[in-house]
Amino acid sequence: MAGNAEFASKQTHLPSNRFPIGGELLLTFALILLFIGSSAIAQESIALTIDASKTGPKIDRNIFGQFAEHLGHGIYEGIWVGPDSKIPNTRGIRNDVVAALKALHVPNVRWPGGCFADEYHWRNGVGPVDKRNVTLNPNWGGVIEPNTFGTNEFMDFIGQIGAEAYVSVNVGSGTPNEAADWLEYLTTAQPTTLETERAANGHPAPYKIAYLGIGNESWACGGNMTADYYLSQFKIYSRFVRNYNPAQQQGDQQMMKIAVGPGGSEAEWADWTETIMKAYQSRPWSWDMNGLSMHSYTVIKWPPAYASVGFAEAEYSQILNKTLEMDDLIRKHAAIMDKYDPQKKVALVVDEWGAWYAPLPDSNPGFLIQQNSLRDGILTALNLNIFARHADRVRMANIAQMVNVLQAMIMTDKERMIMTPTYHVFKMYLPFQGASSIPVMFNAGTYTNGNITLPRVDAIAARDTKGTLWLAVTNLDPNRPVEIDATIVGMNARSLVGEMMTAAKVDSVNTFDAPNTVIPKPVSATMQGGRLPLRLPPKSVTVVSVEQ
Ligand code: AHR
Repeated sequence: MAGNAEFASKQTHLPSNRFPIGGELLLTFALILLFIGSSAIAQESIALTIDASKTGPKIDRNIFGQFAEHLGHGIYEGIWVGPDSKIPNTRGIRNDVVAALKALHVPNVRWPGGCFADEYHWRNGVGPVDKRNVTLNPNWGGVIEPNTFGTNEFMDFIGQIGAEAYVSVNVGSGTPNEAADWLEYLTTAQPTTLETERAANGHPAPYKIAYLGIGNESWACGGNMTADYYLSQFKIYSRFVRNYNPAQQQGDQQMMKIAVGPGGSEAEWADWTETIMKAYQSRPWSWDMNGLSMHSYTVIKWPPAYASVGFAEAEYSQILNKTLEMDDLIRKHAAIMDKYDPQKKVALVVDEWGAWYAPLPDSNPGFLIQQNSLRDGILTALNLNIFARHADRVRMANIAQMVNVLQAMIMTDKERMIMTPTYHVFKMYLPFQGASSIPVMFNAGTYTNGNITLPRVDAIAARDTKGTLWLAVTNLDPNRPVEIDATIVGMNARSLVGEMMTAAKVDSVNTFDAPNTVIPKPVSATMQGGRLPLRLPPKSVTVVSVEQ
């Protein structure tokens, strides 16, 4: 949090002409051509070429991961209503939310925090519900934590939506022994006391924990540690917190251990990454690390003052300008990682990202409730594009957060539920899960508002696992439509077919009374004179397949 607040403000954000669809090796065939000049402002058509004969790195489906923290109505009311609720549920978990999330093919869910994780004691959340300790949630409003949603409920939830578990263990106020016991409880198949307890709690088979976060923001809410101190903790946890799941031990799906990484771009964050990565390079056999976390919120000023709805074009362009800093941030930390891990074995895991605005008026400020507008849908596409371009190093990311908190995918109000523009962009981008990057060349053009100049258009292309070619294009300009003049090299393309999302205003939102204000609509383009003209409305996100 603190790190994000300290971001330096930048007035102009144009992509560099080094287009990193996957690092240096791919620079030769991946390029964004910028056209910066006064005449660019009037440009109405943008030439875009996809070279279908070339392939870049795989876009790991884990970049579409999500984050569900015990915070406000993120878990309670958002996911968990309890088995006795009138809201339709399966073992206490909302059916509507599960159905919506299943449709997104969520690859992994990070839980239980966030800051909450470093004050969470897992034993409070297992066993008969009426015997569980009732505790407090000091980070987020100081409210009561009933612990009715604990380990077994979380594993049930991710089972229902078909996601993998990304569990964050308590380093700040816990012990290595407590975390080791939790993993034994979760994963052992041997008849230990903890295995017997898990079976008695309804789950005889060992659970699979695919990802383990060792601490959260240990430089701030996770314990105010220095990099050296955190590193000493990480080594201990990495050694003793073991995964016993027999299927994982035999297969190639070992549990991935993720260390706390940087929270910004300034020198102190570079030092953090240096410290951890240097130690990784010289590590002995007895500890390992497979991922380095990075947190980066799109926030201007601290505490967050920008409104999530009811804003004008100035705030629209400032927020998009800010969010594009993600590219520089990844580039800087990836360069440090390259020094110590040139084979890119350690993933950069952007496990908290998204827009952080002022809390909605009259809401509990500790609950981080904000609206989600068309601007957030566009911001989502821009960040997913950045992750895809860094696919060689960024192999996992988690939007903050899943339900009712910050840049939420889903919002609930008692029995009602809406899907936000962010949700719709995640759904439109489904074909990019696990797809192979394809080089796309285009003239980004410029969009200027006041002293901010942004690329007018952003795009990525990829071939999905079934062989279909996909193109995602965003028109950032809120005033001017643009025609994409697409050429597909190495393929006999006849049409483009897919979906486009826009709305009347940059701050248009879905509400419980008008849930379909910002939703994708069908779009297509057919071949004309060897070119595929795709018209993009102002402020829109479009995803199309290339049809032969
Ligand atoms: O997502 C909200 C909070 O932001 C998380 O708990 C913390 O890790 C970050 O500062």
